[in-house]
Amino acid sequence: MPVKQPAPGDLSAIETASRDEIAALQLARMKDTLQRAYDNVPHYRKAFDAKGVKPGDLKQLSDLSKFPFLVKSDLRDNYPFGLFAVPREKLSRVHASSGTTGKPTVVGYTKNDIDTWAELVARSIRAAGGRPGDLIHIAYGYGLFTGGLGAHYGAERAGCTVVPMGGGQTEKQVQLIQDFKPSIIMVTPSYMQVVIEEFARQGIDARESSLKVGIFGAEPWTEAMRHDIEHKAGIDAVDIYGLSEVMGPGVASECIESKDGPVIWEDHFYPEIIDPITGELVPDGEEGELVFTSLTKEALPVVRYRTRDLTRLLPPTSRSFRRMGKIVGRSDDMMIIRGVNVFPTQVEEIVLAHEALTGLYQMHISREGLLDQVEVHCELQPNSIISESDRVAVAKWVQHRIKTLVGISTEVRVFDPNTIERTQTGKARRVVDKRPR
Ligand code: DLL
Repeated sequence: MPVKQPAPGDLSAIETASRDEIAALQLARMKDTLQRAYDNVPHYRKAFDAKGVKPGDLKQLSDLSKFPFLVKSDLRDNYPFGLFAVPREKLSRVHASSGTTGKPTVVGYTKNDIDTWAELVARSIRAAGGRPGDLIHIAYGYGLFTGGLGAHYGAERAGCTVVPMGGGQTEKQVQLIQDFKPSIIMVTPSYMQVVIEEFARQGIDARESSLKVGIFGAEPWTEAMRHDIEHKAGIDAVDIYGLSEVMGPGVASECIESKDGPVIWEDHFYPEIIDPITGELVPDGEEGELVFTSLTKEALPVVRYRTRDLTRLLPPTSRSFRRMGKIVGRSDDMMIIRGVNVFPTQVEEIVLAHEALTGLYQMHISREGLLDQVEVHCELQPNSIISESDRVAVAKWVQHRIKTLVGISTEVRVFDPNTIERTQTGKARRVVDKRPR
């Protein structure tokens, strides 16, 4: 598929600025952010004082490492509006993400924040090859989740025509794609798999649809998944990253011409990678936990927010900003199975490598006595009828690969087509952990 190269006018000046210019801008904005956080948010004042640092101690970007981290529980402890640096009346909007337990995490935006967010998602869409006049089908969930509205405002800002479909109603998703003929879809990769399946169910070849590009994110997904989706839907699949605490979708996004990891919009977010255990900085290129400091946010400035996402920082390529590697997993999702660290993404790559399987999978963890047991559930491609012995052979193949490549013993069960739980609105549930807490 021909890839559109961005015309010079499609890039903002900062996307091609020198690293020195970017660093100067970051430093000025970081100083301002630290001061605003300290002056307006009691939590930051307390945390900075406890560490004996003042905003004025930041003379260069590397001084940021002297400042304390912000963690998810700080947001919960200040529920709902305690971390905002502006009076509630100045908020244009709030979003919230439901945690697994207790209260949701609430985030807020001023009018300027919404404006910046729209601009950065528009930039992400342009990086994905989107241009004014393109029709964009948005199947991220609307509502408190940042995916739908975040994508929506960005797509409008990019001058595109938006179809605000939202998540779910899979049959209708396919019908609208067929009737309206969007060239771009924005959706979670796992729900895209479900949409592709629905095309097949309706007897339509997804590769014949009008779609040319998918902008996928909101959950970890592998290169193997990228190839699977690109192959089955005949599109280019690019990766958009973000999280509500830092903004929403569009903190980083991949360029279609290089597809080499999301470019971090470093004029608005300063990334660091730390060792998740010691909290010490690790050099670019090495894997660790991604930490963000917002540089322009007004309502909810975040200073050294620990994302729990594990990845690496990579040098600039298509733009002047650094990139991040694909998210390997969240440190919260990391399972320690009999002493081995395991991420669902490792299993995903293996399941996708077998042509008899759909790539949908779930890991069920239980404990028998003192030992963790892992069952991997996967399923056959639609309409496949295979003998019991072939089914056993597929299971054995997956089991063996997991043992060799991941290093854990599992029991693999290969189910009939259409049996693994489908995500209807967004993020897939890859792990069902039944171990006692
Ligand atoms: O998922 C924002 C978003 C919406 C991003 C739509 C991209 C597209 P949260 O619900 O707060 O926000 O979840 C954030 O999702 O910390 C990652 O663990 C994961 N995540 C988001 N994008 C990616 C990605 C939205 N491209 C959490 N790759 C983050 C891997 C991702 N994981």
